[in-house]
Amino acid sequence: MANETGTTMHSSVHSMWSSRLTFILAATGSAVGLGNIWKFPYITGENGGGAFVLVYLVCIALIGIPIMMAEVMLGRRGRKSPINTMRALAAAENRSSAWTMLGWLGVAAGFLILSYYSVIAGWALSYVFHTAVGTFDGQTADGVASIFQGLTDDPEKLIAWHSIFIFITMAIVAQGVKKGLERTVTYLMPILAGILVVLVVYALNNADFREGAEFLFFPDFSKISAGAVLTAMGHAFFTLSLGMGAIMIYGSYMPDNAPIGSTCIVIAVADTAVALLAGLAIFPLVFTYGLEPGQGAGLIFSTLPIAFGQMPWGSFFGTLFFLLLTLAALTSAISLIEPAVAWLVENKGLSRVRASIYSGLGIWVLGLGSVLSFNVWSDKTLSLTVKIGESVIPLVDKATFFDSIDYLTSNIMLPLGGLLMALFAGYSMSIASTKQELGLKDNAYNIWRVLVRYVTPILVLIVFLHAIGILD
Ligand code: TRP
Repeated sequence: MANETGTTMHSSVHSMWSSRLTFILAATGSAVGLGNIWKFPYITGENGGGAFVLVYLVCIALIGIPIMMAEVMLGRRGRKSPINTMRALAAAENRSSAWTMLGWLGVAAGFLILSYYSVIAGWALSYVFHTAVGTFDGQTADGVASIFQGLTDDPEKLIAWHSIFIFITMAIVAQGVKKGLERTVTYLMPILAGILVVLVVYALNNADFREGAEFLFFPDFSKISAGAVLTAMGHAFFTLSLGMGAIMIYGSYMPDNAPIGSTCIVIAVADTAVALLAGLAIFPLVFTYGLEPGQGAGLIFSTLPIAFGQMPWGSFFGTLFFLLLTLAALTSAISLIEPAVAWLVENKGLSRVRASIYSGLGIWVLGLGSVLSFNVWSDKTLSLTVKIGESVIPLVDKATFFDSIDYLTSNIMLPLGGLLMALFAGYSMSIASTKQELGLKDNAYNIWRVLVRYVTPILVLIVFLHAIGILD
């Protein structure tokens, strides 16, 4: 056990990161993924652009960063899987053991998210091969769109790629998250950002960059609904990996003396930069080729290949891009499954190998529902309502299985999890413990405390109440 300095409670069965830098790398690996490059552009396109992006940026700053600090802090103080961390911290602060539910909510959210995340990562994986053999060379926008359609129409292909991705995830998690992760993030993520820059430069020279940039950065508030604000807030949680315990468990492997505040800011800035670069690469192409910005989950798969098919060295850059995107998805996937695996190891005494296999299989089965959402079940929709007293509140309104799971996790479970973490850190823990753990100077500490006690919970609640139509 590498816990040299000794903490309040560290009967941990897990290993530690070698330094603060490793924590930054691992947390950035978790944060940067499909959320930045696949999801951010497509939901921005669906929600009208600039105003949505602005709300998202405000949510990152006012909600994301303070909750990330709270989540890392809880993890480092508890030094266990999120379920056991919450149990231990609640006991240490003389609070109800019901807080443990927060850990369970997170494990459930991680399972649900990874089930569809793996299907999309499978698309990226299949594009590694498409670009390598030059499928997109010289293709028109229509040609590129029909290649994508050919993939999503075929459930067997989708299942095959989904299975490969889950298998690789299980194989890595089985060996412990430290090995492999450090190197992937240190060397490969900067290259991914580099290719995004190449794509942005391509868009500058060969596409209507101005229209793309205006769409992203020019806020038109008439285009934004309460639902869009909820989606922007949900995405701030999703993209920073907050609200389910992924960052908590990575925090639990963080050395005692590493500063939490500045570390979280670095991670949030890097994550946001990648998302904005992806948007700047994609939207100019969307407008130049007369494509529909709100076309949905296929957006990057039907735009970026056009650029790769036309630019010099396109097949090389394309292959590398989709390979790195798959790796970015992998470093995120690992963090989605880790809380469940760590709990199985701690409480059920399973080996990491078994714990990974059991969790992976469960997630694989759930993923089949998302696979079918793009073909066989594409017109089967779900509606989900909750009844509170007399009023019936619609949660999911006629959405496919894939869209329903995404909505339920990003827009409800993650903000709820984050809200509870903020409340626990801001109200249930003593000032002495949070101050000691965060190690902030007085002013910074006071700002953080006001944010988690008042600003964050109130904002999350207002957005929730608007979205379900109780406030307007
Ligand atoms: N943040 C990752 C992305 O943007 C996805 C992710 C990894 C995640 N771990 C998470 C989302 C935990 C929510 C919670 O691709």
